[in-house]
Amino acid sequence: MRGKVVCGVAVAMLWVAAGMLGLSEADVDKGAEEIVLFGGERGRVPFPHHRHQEKLGNCDICHSVYAQQSGIIQELKEAGKLQKKQIMNKQCTKCHKEKRRSGEKSGPTACTSCHIK
Ligand code: HEC
Ligand code: HEC
Ligand code: HEC
Repeated sequence: MRGKVVCGVAVAMLWVAAGMLGLSEADVDKGAEEIVLFGGERGRVPFPHHRHQEKLGNCDICHSVYAQQSGIIQELKEAGKLQKKQIMNKQCTKCHKEKRRSGEKSGPTACTSCHIK
């Protein structure tokens, strides 16, 4: 009887462990591959989300400032918790300029390369 219970517990633990391993890779919500951000009168800003994830390898570079939630940047701006252009200047353009300066492949820094009408 006792042997059977121990055995059952061991099987259950293996099953849970396998489930957790499966979770770590496939089930992380990476959000949309492409996102279109609100850019005011300059026009909207297409953002290749997964490409940045692959290139940068760290979600927190961006998401330490805003949650992993659709529309959150605009929500925080409207609530006065982010300034207009704050993400643009402190994340997007800042990083692109730094990468370019250090000779790495980078993203756009001209207004009309990001904002489209
Ligand atoms: C270079 C910046 C950047 C990086 C790095 C980044 N994200 Fe995002 N993520 C964004 C932006 C911008 C949004 C859209 C926010 C909005 O709509 O206001 C977003 C939105 C999301 C969303 C919400 C769903 C959606 O598609 O809008 C999820 C989930 C998400 N990201 C997950 C991740 C994960 C997981 C990683 C790391 C593997 C990651 N992100 C890395 C910038 C980034
Ligand atoms: C690397 C891409 C990128 C470049 C280059 C860029 N922008 Fe932006 N811009 C954004 C993003 C993303 C937002 C939305 C997030 C924010 O407000 O920080 C934005 C927001 C804005 C807003 C505020 C919109 C609003 O009403 O909330 C203005 C105005 C603006 N940009 C003007 C400009 C001008 C002018 C230039 C050129 C000097 C420029 N942008 C260059 C990506 C960019
Ligand atoms: C921490 C660095 C970093 C941040 C933050 C960042 N980018 Fe980039 N971005 C890159 C790099 C590196 C590339 C070049 C990617 C490649 O080599 O494929 C790039 C490329 C791009 C491209 C060009 C993709 C193409 O098709 O050539 C766009 C558009 C872009 N970024 C927009 C944005 C916007 C909008 C934001 C802010 C919401 C942002 N990026 C934030 C590093 C960054």
